Amino acid sequence: MSQNHEVVEKNIGLMMVLILIVVSMGALVEIVPLFFLKTTTEPVEGLKPYTALQLEGRDIYIRESCNACHSQQVRPFRAETERYGHYSVAGEYVYDNPFLWGSKRTGPDLARVGGRYSDAWHRLHLHNPRSVVPESNMPAYPWLEKRELDPSGIVTKMQVQNKLGHVVGQGDRYTQAEIDAASEQIKGKTELDALIAYLQVLGTHMKGTR
Ligand code: HEC
Repeated sequence: MSQNHEVVEKNIGLMMVLILIVVSMGALVEIVPLFFLKTTTEPVEGLKPYTALQLEGRDIYIRESCNACHSQQVRPFRAETERYGHYSVAGEYVYDNPFLWGSKRTGPDLARVGGRYSDAWHRLHLHNPRSVVPESNMPAYPWLEKRELDPSGIVTKMQVQNKLGHVVGQGDRYTQAEIDAASEQIKGKTELDALIAYLQVLGTHMKGTR
């Protein structure tokens, strides 16, 4: 026994390999079960895949790097749940690929911002945050209201969502009828319309749970 140990202690290469094996065991035990737990793969009650317009809005949110200043994850601490509502749970993010949890909060968390303000407030705020929050240091996004959505990508985006749904074992997120109707739904809408539609749905399925 002690002799075996000596072999390991005197051979740094072997020791490194063995350390890696031990460490990866820990990771496997922690991470792998998450892929099979229903609480992490099944949507919470009431959560639906994003509509075509919301999906476009989410892409604009990513393009404009809103997640550089806003997290989308309420942590299970009193100070956070008092301010934002119920802490976030895994089943809320099953349609978020990639997720937008973020870690930087220059602005408030947005996981439950849906319904907190009117669409009109968001229009003013995104056009110029200082018009509704004088002390705000959030940048203005005046171009969003001028740019119409390009409907040419939406069918592919929804098909990709369906593929992702299969990867995580949910199956299709959209029916063929929903995909066929998508371009018509977003036609003539601006990027601002889409972004607001996205913001207004965030966290709404968990309202009233606190
Ligand atoms: C440079 C950092 C920064 C960026 C980038 C940024 N924000 Fe903000 N945001 C803030 C700050 C600071 C506030 C708080 C003051 C205010 O309400 O304007 C805020 C507030 C908000 C609020 C109100 C939240 C609440 O609960 O009161 C919303 C909604 C919002 N931002 C959306 C967005 C969206 C959408 C984008 C991307 C288009 C974005 N923000 C980009 C810093 C940022």
